[in-house]
This record gives sequence, C-alpha cells and structure tokens, in this order.
Amino acid sequence: MASRWTDSPQRYGLVTRLLHWSMAALFAWQFLGMGVKLLLGRHAVTAFFVGTHKPVGTLLMLLILLRGAWGLSQWRNRPPHPPTLVGRLAVAGHAVLYALMFYVPAVALLREYGSGRGFAPWGIPLFPATGEQVAWMLAPANLSHGVLAWTLLALVAGHVAMVAVHQWWWRDATLARMSGRL
Ligand code: HEM
Ligand code: HEM
Repeated sequence: MASRWTDSPQRYGLVTRLLHWSMAALFAWQFLGMGVKLLLGRHAVTAFFVGTHKPVGTLLMLLILLRGAWGLSQWRNRPPHPPTLVGRLAVAGHAVLYALMFYVPAVALLREYGSGRGFAPWGIPLFPATGEQVAWMLAPANLSHGVLAWTLLALVAGHVAMVAVHQWWWRDATLARMSGRL
C-alpha cells in the first residue's frame, strides 16, 4: 500500500526523494571540492575540501547501498517509464548512474584497504593499519576512480538537461514526481 513514505506510480515517496536530493547535494560537494583542487592546486581551500572528500565519499557509499536496496523494494510501485525509445533510454541512463555511483566509491575504498595505512572516516575505524600494501587493491582506483567520477559528472549533466527538457519543452510531471509537488 502506498503511503507518503513509499513510491507510487504517480510520484516518488519521501524516502526515495530524501535519498535522491541528499545524495545529489553530497555529490555536488565532492565534485565542487575536486574542481577546486584542479583549479587552485595546493591551497588552503583545496586542503579543506580534500579533508572532507574521503568521509563524505564513504557516506555516499553507504547511501548508495541503502538506495539500491530501497529502489529494489519499490521497483513495482515506481512511476513507470513508457516502452518508447526515450523511456528505455531513461531506464538505461538511470542504471548507468547507479553502476557508477557504486563503482566510484567502491574502488576508492578498496584502495584505502589495500594501502595498509588504516582508514577511520568520521573517526569510525573501518580498516585497520596493517602496514602492508596490496598492489591489486590499489590498481583499479589508481586507473579509474578519477576518470569514472568525471564520467559520472558528465552523465549527471545529461540527466539534469533531460529534466529541463521534460519540464520546459514537453511540460510533463517528471520533475514534479521527484520534487514532491505531486
Ligand atoms: C562517491 C563519491 C566520490 C566521488 C564523486 C569522487 C570523485 C572524485 C574526483 C572527481 C576526483 C578527482 C580526480 C582528478 O584529480 O581528476 C577524486 C579523487 C580522489 N578520490 Fe574520490 N570520489 C568519491 C569517493 C571517494 C572515496 C570514498 C574515497 C576514499 C575513501 C576517495 C578518494 C579519492 C582520492 C584519494 C583521490 C585522489 C586520487 C585519485 O584521483 O584517484 N574518493 N574523487
Ligand atoms: C539538480 C540536479 C538533479 C535534478 C534536477 C534531478 C532530477 C531528477 C528527476 C526529476 C528524476 C525522476 C526521473 C524519472 O522519474 O524518470 C530523477 C531520477 C533519478 N536521478 Fe536525479 N536529479 C538531479 C541530480 C541527480 C544526481 C546528482 C544523481 C546521481 C549521481 C541522480 C540520479 C538519479 C537516479 C538514479 C534517478 C532514478 C530514480 C532513483 O532511483 O532515484 N540525480 N532525478
């Protein structure tokens, strides 16, 4: 049964919306920080953002796991996408967003584990300091964490552009069902 917490075919419920918008804000924080790092290089502002990058990224890892599980539990209630080309592309696009939202922090955490230096985001001891580096655990993040994170940002830009098309060109309820106006 649909309550205001759960999804319905007309709109996304409170839990889905809370996850979507809080995670969008945290992703924006991550990209802003790394953008500042690219622009300013070594700088006090960069140091501030870099200091928050790993804990915020770890929080995002937890949130994406919760969001994936919640999404599966709501799968059959969610607003359906039409079986047209645009509808199918939307579903495929969301699937790629999920894949990257999972992969990007997951390989970074694997690298933290493999570094052997120990890792305690938000002061919570997650990985112990073993003093031993494990090369295969470092390689995936060294090769792909940054580049796939920027790829995720490019996809998010496309996602937001499509929302704008829905809102101002097609004038349908796509944004309203995620913003809470429905
Ligand atoms: C899910 C959220 C995350 C996003 C969107 C994200 C995004 C990024 C971006 C855009 C860069 C800059 C790449 C460049 O210099 O061009 C970066 C670098 C970095 N990130 Fe993340 N990150 C996330 C999670 C994490 C986590 C969980 C950790 C570690 C616990 C981490 C550790 C690092 C490190 C060490 C670098 C610098 C080295 C490198 O580029 O691989 N990140 N991240
Ligand atoms: C200003 C930024 C954003 C806007 C305006 C926005 C808007 C929307 C809207 C209107 C929907 C519903 C689309 C539908 O029902 O087909 C949606 C769904 C979705 N959005 Fe966003 N979004 C934003 C940022 C993001 C970011 C940063 C991510 C991921 C990194 C993201 C990932 C998703 C995903 C995966 C869905 C599918 C529903 C779900 O499982 O949560 N969005 N978004």
